[in-house]
Amino acid sequence: MRILITGISGMLGVDLYQILRDSYEIVGLDIKGFPSTPFSSPPLHKGDITDLPELKAVFLKLNPDFVIHTAAYTDVDGCEKSPDRAHRVNALGTRNIALICQEKNIPLVYVSTDFVFDGKKNYPYAELDEPHPLNVYGRSKLAGENYIRSLLEGYFIVRTSWLYGQYGKNFVETILKLAEEKEVLTVVGDQVGSPTYAKDLAQEMKKLVSGGSYGIYHITNSGSCNWYDFAEEILKLAGIRGIKVKPITSKELNRPARRPQFSVLKSSSSGRGLEDTMRPWKEALKEYLEERKDL
Ligand SMILES: NC(=O)c1ccc[n+]([C@@H]2O[C@H](COP(=O)([O-])OP(=O)(O)OC[C@H]3O[C@@H](n4cnc5c(N)ncnc54)[C@H](OP(=O)(O)O)[C@@H]3O)[C@@H](O)[C@H]2O)c1
Repeated sequence: MRILITGISGMLGVDLYQILRDSYEIVGLDIKGFPSTPFSSPPLHKGDITDLPELKAVFLKLNPDFVIHTAAYTDVDGCEKSPDRAHRVNALGTRNIALICQEKNIPLVYVSTDFVFDGKKNYPYAELDEPHPLNVYGRSKLAGENYIRSLLEGYFIVRTSWLYGQYGKNFVETILKLAEEKEVLTVVGDQVGSPTYAKDLAQEMKKLVSGGSYGIYHITNSGSCNWYDFAEEILKLAGIRGIKVKPITSKELNRPARRPQFSVLKSSSSGRGLEDTMRPWKEALKEYLEERKDL
Protein backbone atom coordinates (compact mmCIF):
# COMPACT_ATOMS: atom_id res chain seq x y z
CA MET A 1 0.00 0.00 0.00
CA ARG A 2 1.28 3.44 -0.91
CA ILE A 3 0.57 6.17 1.65
CA LEU A 4 0.77 9.87 0.90
CA ILE A 5 1.65 11.96 3.98
CA THR A 6 0.95 15.68 3.58
CA GLY A 7 3.08 17.89 5.82
CA ILE A 8 5.72 15.14 5.83
CA SER A 9 8.51 17.65 6.61
CA GLY A 10 6.74 18.85 9.76
CA MET A 11 7.13 17.53 13.29
CA LEU A 12 4.47 14.81 13.19
CA GLY A 13 5.04 14.11 9.49
CA VAL A 14 8.64 13.02 10.06
CA ASP A 15 7.68 10.72 12.94
CA LEU A 16 4.87 9.20 10.87
CA TYR A 17 7.30 8.58 8.04
CA GLN A 18 9.79 6.99 10.41
CA ILE A 19 7.17 4.68 11.93
CA LEU A 20 5.33 3.71 8.75
CA ARG A 21 8.19 3.38 6.27
CA ASP A 22 9.12 -0.21 7.16
CA SER A 23 5.57 -1.48 6.56
CA TYR A 24 4.34 0.75 3.71
CA GLU A 25 5.54 2.63 0.68
CA ILE A 26 5.54 6.29 1.72
CA VAL A 27 5.40 9.35 -0.52
CA GLY A 28 5.30 12.89 0.79
CA LEU A 29 3.93 16.32 0.02
CA ASP A 30 5.06 19.46 1.79
CA ILE A 31 5.61 23.11 1.03
CA LYS A 32 9.16 22.78 2.30
CA GLY A 33 12.01 20.26 2.00
CA PHE A 34 12.55 17.31 4.32
CA PRO A 35 14.63 18.18 7.42
CA SER A 36 17.96 16.55 8.10
CA THR A 37 17.39 13.23 9.91
CA PRO A 38 19.44 10.08 10.54
CA PHE A 39 17.33 8.26 7.89
CA SER A 40 16.89 8.85 4.17
CA SER A 41 14.29 11.28 2.86
CA PRO A 42 11.08 9.88 1.29
CA PRO A 43 10.12 10.69 -2.31
CA LEU A 44 8.81 14.20 -1.67
CA HIS A 45 6.77 16.44 -3.89
CA LYS A 46 7.22 20.09 -2.92
CA GLY A 47 3.76 21.57 -3.32
CA ASP A 48 0.98 23.61 -1.79
CA ILE A 49 -2.28 22.02 -0.63
CA THR A 50 -4.15 25.24 -1.39
CA ASP A 51 -3.51 24.82 -5.13
CA LEU A 52 -6.17 22.33 -6.31
CA PRO A 53 -4.92 21.84 -9.89
CA GLU A 54 -1.37 21.24 -8.62
CA LEU A 55 -2.70 18.88 -5.98
CA LYS A 56 -4.64 16.90 -8.59
CA ALA A 57 -1.45 16.55 -10.64
CA VAL A 58 0.46 15.37 -7.55
CA PHE A 59 -2.18 12.71 -6.82
CA LEU A 60 -2.06 11.59 -10.44
CA LYS A 61 1.70 11.25 -10.27
CA LEU A 62 1.99 9.69 -6.81
CA ASN A 63 -1.19 7.58 -7.04
CA PRO A 64 -1.64 6.90 -3.29
CA ASP A 65 -3.95 4.23 -1.83
CA PHE A 66 -4.25 6.05 1.50
CA VAL A 67 -3.69 9.65 2.65
CA ILE A 68 -2.56 11.01 6.02
CA HIS A 69 -3.13 14.75 6.05
CA THR A 70 -1.00 16.59 8.61
CA ALA A 71 -0.09 19.72 6.58
CA ALA A 72 -1.40 22.82 8.31
CA TYR A 73 -0.65 26.39 9.26
CA THR A 74 0.10 25.56 12.91
CA ASP A 75 1.26 28.90 14.33
CA VAL A 76 -1.69 29.57 16.64
CA ASP A 77 -0.88 33.26 17.22
CA GLY A 78 0.12 33.67 13.56
CA CYS A 79 -3.35 32.41 12.57
CA GLU A 80 -4.91 35.16 14.69
CA LYS A 81 -2.92 37.76 12.75
CA SER A 82 -3.43 36.09 9.34
CA PRO A 83 -6.94 34.60 9.44
CA ASP A 84 -7.13 34.44 5.64
CA ARG A 85 -4.04 32.25 5.47
CA ALA A 86 -5.39 30.06 8.29
CA HIS A 87 -8.65 29.55 6.43
CA ARG A 88 -6.93 29.02 3.08
CA VAL A 89 -4.51 26.36 4.36
CA ASN A 90 -6.37 24.62 7.20
CA ALA A 91 -9.92 24.77 5.88
CA LEU A 92 -9.72 25.10 2.07
CA GLY A 93 -6.48 23.10 1.76
CA THR A 94 -8.16 20.28 3.67
CA ARG A 95 -11.24 20.60 1.47
CA ASN A 96 -8.99 20.17 -1.59
CA ILE A 97 -7.51 16.99 -0.17
CA ALA A 98 -10.98 15.69 0.74
CA LEU A 99 -12.35 16.47 -2.74
CA ILE A 100 -9.61 14.42 -4.40
CA CYS A 101 -10.01 11.56 -1.89
CA GLN A 102 -13.74 11.61 -2.61
CA GLU A 103 -13.20 11.50 -6.36
CA LYS A 104 -10.65 8.69 -6.13
CA ASN A 105 -12.28 6.87 -3.21
CA ILE A 106 -9.13 7.04 -1.04
CA PRO A 107 -9.37 6.73 2.77
CA LEU A 108 -8.09 9.77 4.63
CA VAL A 109 -6.70 10.44 8.11
CA TYR A 110 -6.93 14.10 9.11
CA VAL A 111 -5.02 15.37 12.15
CA SER A 112 -7.01 17.88 14.17
CA THR A 113 -6.65 19.53 17.54
CA ASP A 114 -7.88 19.96 21.11
CA PHE A 115 -8.27 23.64 20.18
CA VAL A 116 -11.60 22.86 18.52
CA PHE A 117 -12.98 22.94 22.10
CA ASP A 118 -13.51 26.06 24.21
CA GLY A 119 -12.28 24.57 27.52
CA LYS A 120 -15.36 25.54 29.48
CA LYS A 121 -15.96 21.94 30.51
CA ASN A 122 -13.84 20.92 33.47
CA TYR A 123 -13.66 17.24 32.66
CA PRO A 124 -12.17 15.60 29.55
CA TYR A 125 -13.73 16.14 26.13
CA ALA A 126 -15.10 13.05 24.36
CA GLU A 127 -15.08 12.59 20.59
CA LEU A 128 -18.74 13.49 20.22
CA ASP A 129 -18.71 16.59 22.44
CA GLU A 130 -19.75 19.71 20.57
CA PRO A 131 -16.71 21.68 19.35
CA HIS A 132 -16.67 25.39 19.96
CA PRO A 133 -13.26 26.90 19.13
CA LEU A 134 -12.03 30.09 20.78
CA ASN A 135 -9.46 31.15 18.19
CA VAL A 136 -8.87 31.41 14.45
CA TYR A 137 -6.61 28.34 14.36
CA GLY A 138 -9.26 26.20 16.09
CA ARG A 139 -12.01 27.50 13.81
CA SER A 140 -9.93 26.79 10.69
CA LYS A 141 -9.09 23.25 11.85
CA LEU A 142 -12.75 22.61 12.71
CA ALA A 143 -13.76 23.86 9.25
CA GLY A 144 -11.31 21.26 7.87
CA GLU A 145 -13.03 18.57 9.96
CA ASN A 146 -16.43 19.65 8.69
CA TYR A 147 -15.38 19.50 5.04
CA ILE A 148 -14.09 15.99 5.58
CA ARG A 149 -17.24 14.87 7.35
CA SER A 150 -19.47 16.28 4.66
CA LEU A 151 -17.47 15.04 1.66
CA LEU A 152 -16.21 11.63 2.73
CA GLU A 153 -17.41 8.40 4.22
CA GLY A 154 -13.98 6.81 4.58
CA TYR A 155 -12.29 9.16 7.03
CA PHE A 156 -10.50 9.18 10.35
CA ILE A 157 -10.32 12.45 12.26
CA VAL A 158 -7.59 12.27 14.90
CA ARG A 159 -7.62 15.03 17.51
CA THR A 160 -4.47 15.39 19.56
CA SER A 161 -2.87 18.00 21.83
CA TRP A 162 0.32 19.73 22.98
CA LEU A 163 2.60 17.81 20.57
CA TYR A 164 6.35 17.61 20.83
CA GLY A 165 8.69 15.54 18.69
CA GLN A 166 12.32 15.21 17.64
CA TYR A 167 11.89 17.06 14.34
CA GLY A 168 10.08 20.31 14.99
CA LYS A 169 9.87 23.42 17.13
CA ASN A 170 8.08 22.58 20.34
CA PHE A 171 7.57 23.56 23.98
CA VAL A 172 10.15 21.09 25.35
CA GLU A 173 12.89 22.53 23.15
CA THR A 174 11.82 26.08 23.99
CA ILE A 175 12.11 25.41 27.73
CA LEU A 176 15.52 23.71 27.37
CA LYS A 177 16.81 26.64 25.32
CA LEU A 178 15.41 29.25 27.72
CA ALA A 179 17.04 27.38 30.61
CA GLU A 180 20.42 27.97 28.95
CA GLU A 181 19.74 31.69 28.69
CA LYS A 182 17.79 32.66 31.84
CA GLU A 183 17.61 31.86 35.54
CA VAL A 184 13.91 32.63 35.89
CA LEU A 185 11.30 31.36 33.42
CA THR A 186 7.69 32.54 33.44
CA VAL A 187 5.22 29.94 32.23
CA VAL A 188 1.43 29.91 32.03
CA GLY A 189 -0.18 27.99 34.87
CA ASP A 190 -3.87 28.26 34.05
CA GLN A 191 -4.21 26.15 30.89
CA VAL A 192 -4.56 22.41 31.36
CA GLY A 193 -3.99 19.79 28.65
CA SER A 194 -2.17 16.57 27.81
CA PRO A 195 1.37 16.78 26.42
CA THR A 196 1.77 14.19 23.67
CA TYR A 197 4.89 12.68 22.14
CA ALA A 198 4.51 12.76 18.34
CA LYS A 199 6.14 9.32 18.13
CA ASP A 200 3.46 7.80 20.40
CA LEU A 201 0.73 9.43 18.34
CA ALA A 202 2.28 8.12 15.11
CA GLN A 203 2.38 4.61 16.56
CA GLU A 204 -1.34 4.76 17.38
CA MET A 205 -2.13 6.21 13.98
CA LYS A 206 -0.39 3.24 12.38
CA LYS A 207 -3.14 1.03 13.87
CA LEU A 208 -5.77 3.12 12.10
CA VAL A 209 -3.96 2.71 8.80
CA SER A 210 -3.81 -1.05 9.20
CA GLY A 211 -7.55 -1.46 9.64
CA GLY A 212 -9.26 0.84 12.14
CA SER A 213 -12.94 1.70 11.86
CA TYR A 214 -13.71 5.10 10.43
CA GLY A 215 -14.67 7.97 12.73
CA ILE A 216 -13.30 10.51 15.18
CA TYR A 217 -10.48 9.60 17.59
CA HIS A 218 -8.92 11.43 20.53
CA ILE A 219 -5.28 10.36 20.82
CA THR A 220 -2.98 11.85 23.48
CA ASN A 221 -0.61 10.57 26.13
CA SER A 222 -2.54 9.98 29.34
CA GLY A 223 -2.71 12.31 32.33
CA SER A 224 -2.77 16.08 32.22
CA CYS A 225 -0.97 19.11 33.56
CA ASN A 226 -0.65 22.84 33.02
CA TRP A 227 2.22 24.41 31.05
CA TYR A 228 3.97 25.39 34.32
CA ASP A 229 3.93 21.74 35.55
CA PHE A 230 5.11 20.63 32.11
CA ALA A 231 8.07 23.05 32.24
CA GLU A 232 9.01 21.90 35.77
CA GLU A 233 8.93 18.24 34.66
CA ILE A 234 11.08 18.98 31.59
CA LEU A 235 13.76 20.60 33.75
CA LYS A 236 13.57 17.84 36.36
CA LEU A 237 13.85 15.00 33.86
CA ALA A 238 16.62 16.80 31.94
CA GLY A 239 18.55 17.11 35.23
CA ILE A 240 18.68 20.91 35.03
CA ARG A 241 18.86 22.59 38.43
CA GLY A 242 18.95 26.16 39.67
CA ILE A 243 16.26 27.52 37.32
CA LYS A 244 13.19 29.07 38.90
CA VAL A 245 9.90 28.61 37.06
CA LYS A 246 7.25 31.19 37.92
CA PRO A 247 3.62 30.52 37.02
CA ILE A 248 1.75 33.37 35.34
CA THR A 249 -1.80 33.67 34.04
CA SER A 250 -2.89 33.63 30.38
CA LYS A 251 -4.08 37.19 30.96
CA GLU A 252 -0.59 38.26 32.03
CA LEU A 253 1.00 36.54 29.03
CA ASN A 254 -1.49 38.27 26.72
CA ARG A 255 -0.94 36.21 23.55
CA PRO A 256 -2.91 37.22 20.42
CA ALA A 257 -4.92 33.94 20.37
CA ARG A 258 -7.16 32.91 23.26
CA ARG A 259 -6.51 29.34 24.36
CA PRO A 260 -8.90 26.94 26.09
CA GLN A 261 -8.25 26.73 29.84
CA PHE A 262 -9.00 23.03 29.84
CA SER A 263 -8.55 20.90 26.73
CA VAL A 264 -7.91 17.39 28.01
CA LEU A 265 -9.23 14.84 25.51
CA LYS A 266 -10.92 11.62 26.56
CA SER A 267 -10.58 8.61 24.31
CA SER A 268 -13.46 6.26 23.66
CA SER A 269 -11.36 4.05 21.43
CA SER A 270 -11.80 0.76 23.23
CA GLY A 271 -13.29 -1.75 20.82
CA ARG A 272 -12.06 0.35 17.90
CA GLY A 273 -8.57 -1.14 17.87
CA LEU A 274 -6.65 1.58 19.73
CA GLU A 275 -5.40 1.92 23.29
CA ASP A 276 -8.03 3.43 25.57
CA THR A 277 -5.23 4.79 27.71
CA MET A 278 -1.87 5.63 26.23
CA ARG A 279 1.23 5.70 28.39
CA PRO A 280 1.47 8.62 30.86
CA TRP A 281 2.85 11.89 29.50
CA LYS A 282 5.73 11.92 32.01
CA GLU A 283 6.94 8.52 30.82
CA ALA A 284 6.80 9.61 27.18
CA LEU A 285 8.63 12.85 28.00
CA LYS A 286 11.40 10.91 29.76
CA GLU A 287 11.91 8.79 26.64
CA TYR A 288 11.89 11.86 24.39
CA LEU A 289 14.62 13.50 26.47
CA GLU A 290 16.71 10.32 26.38
CA GLU A 291 16.27 9.92 22.64
CA ARG A 292 17.10 13.53 21.79
CA LYS A 293 20.51 13.10 23.41
CA ASP A 294 21.31 10.35 20.89
CA LEU A 295 20.55 12.47 17.83
N1 LIG B 1 1.83 20.93 17.30
C1 LIG B 1 0.80 20.72 18.12
O1 LIG B 1 0.86 20.95 19.34
C2 LIG B 1 -0.49 20.16 17.57
C3 LIG B 1 -1.53 19.90 18.46
C4 LIG B 1 -2.74 19.39 17.96
C5 LIG B 1 -2.88 19.14 16.61
N2 LIG B 1 -1.86 19.43 15.76
C6 LIG B 1 -2.06 19.16 14.31
O2 LIG B 1 -1.15 18.14 13.96
C7 LIG B 1 -0.70 18.32 12.62
C8 LIG B 1 0.82 18.28 12.57
O3 LIG B 1 1.32 19.30 13.43
P1 LIG B 1 2.86 19.62 13.49
O4 LIG B 1 3.12 20.22 14.83
O5 LIG B 1 3.64 18.46 13.02
O6 LIG B 1 2.93 20.81 12.43
P2 LIG B 1 4.17 21.38 11.61
O7 LIG B 1 5.45 20.94 12.22
O8 LIG B 1 3.90 22.83 11.43
O9 LIG B 1 4.02 20.60 10.22
C9 LIG B 1 3.10 20.98 9.23
C10 LIG B 1 3.81 20.91 7.90
O10 LIG B 1 2.89 21.32 6.86
C11 LIG B 1 3.58 22.25 6.02
N3 LIG B 1 2.63 23.13 5.34
C12 LIG B 1 2.11 24.30 5.80
N4 LIG B 1 1.32 24.85 4.86
C13 LIG B 1 1.34 24.02 3.80
C14 LIG B 1 0.73 24.06 2.52
N5 LIG B 1 -0.06 25.09 2.14
N6 LIG B 1 0.95 23.04 1.65
C15 LIG B 1 1.77 22.01 1.99
N7 LIG B 1 2.38 21.92 3.20
C16 LIG B 1 2.18 22.91 4.09
C17 LIG B 1 4.44 23.01 7.01
O11 LIG B 1 5.42 23.80 6.35
P3 LIG B 1 5.87 25.20 7.08
O12 LIG B 1 6.59 24.79 8.33
O13 LIG B 1 6.74 25.85 6.06
O14 LIG B 1 4.59 25.94 7.38
C18 LIG B 1 5.01 21.87 7.83
O15 LIG B 1 6.11 21.26 7.19
C19 LIG B 1 -1.31 19.63 12.14
O16 LIG B 1 -2.42 19.35 11.33
C20 LIG B 1 -1.74 20.33 13.41
O17 LIG B 1 -2.86 21.17 13.20
C21 LIG B 1 -0.67 19.93 16.20
